[in-house]
Amino acid sequence: MKEGKVFLAVLNPYFNTGLVKELAAKNITSFSLDVIPRTSRAQAMDILSSMATVAGYKAVLTAANTLPKFFPMFMTAAGTITPSKVLILGAGVAGLQAVATARKLGAVVEVFDVRAAVKEQVVGLGAKFVDVEGAVDDKTAGGYAVEQTEEFKQRQAQAVHDHAIKSDVIICTAQIPGKKAPVLLKKATVEAMKPGSVVIDIAASTGGNCEYTQDNKTVVQNGITIIGNSFFAVDMPSDASKMFGKNVINFLKLMVTKEGALNLNWDDDIVKGTAVTHNKGIVHERVKSIINQ
Ligand code: NAI
Repeated sequence: MKEGKVFLAVLNPYFNTGLVKELAAKNITSFSLDVIPRTSRAQAMDILSSMATVAGYKAVLTAANTLPKFFPMFMTAAGTITPSKVLILGAGVAGLQAVATARKLGAVVEVFDVRAAVKEQVVGLGAKFVDVEGAVDDKTAGGYAVEQTEEFKQRQAQAVHDHAIKSDVIICTAQIPGKKAPVLLKKATVEAMKPGSVVIDIAASTGGNCEYTQDNKTVVQNGITIIGNSFFAVDMPSDASKMFGKNVINFLKLMVTKEGALNLNWDDDIVKGTAVTHNKGIVHERVKSIINQ
């Protein structure tokens, strides 16, 4: 089949809907690496996982650097230093990496998520999973979280409050694809935290999990530092670029022959599932439904 112009990028198509419409109107076949299906075969091409791995790791290191306390427990001649308490909101790729990094630094770690499937992984990494009853856990959402009921949100906010006021660090990673990030950390909760505590919100670019978060800014409120940063990958350019590049090459291998000719196989679920526009139309179902809303 003769293909027109093909564009491969990270379009953020759930939010950049104007760009998507323009690509369709210009008859450009576009692929967006941030909507690649979350299947085992696609893992080697998953740029969101790569960048989330960097973000989870860097978020914890940034917190440790900002906190006026040690992470690990120390028995010193000057007395015993108790370990820091880290609370992690959301245990997707970034959250689990944050758990692993905080545990390696010796902190005591607690985790909230609405997907029961992550509990085992959290416990396996040496952290405590905090259950809040009544979460909507939609098994048909492709492994992603979905919007929660008002009643659950209130119960969760209270549980987060009770744990947050005992924590030294909170790492916010909870997101819902195509939607604003859920607000899990209320202003009143932040105000009740211990002075010197640190909140790192890596969901900042989609609104943040903390009501005080400002994207790309550091806010200090009542002695609590709130850092809004969804782009920690730029602070670790070498490995972030290496992972991104490898993901792109693995994806290109699906659509380019050994001789370098373009060969789009529309029967391949990854090629099909990553395509956003083709033949002057929007071909990605979720993007289409958001644009038609
Ligand atoms: P994400 O960035 O969309 O969300 C991060 C976490 O926040 C998720 O664990 C989500 O359940 C949680 N969350 C959302 N709303 C919440 C709320 N109200 N309260 C508490 N937590 C909330 O997720 P990410 O990191 O992109 O991964 C999503 C899923 O995809 C995971 O199951 C992961 O294992 C899976 N995955 C599969 C891959 C593959 O098979 N190729 C690759 C990467 C991820």
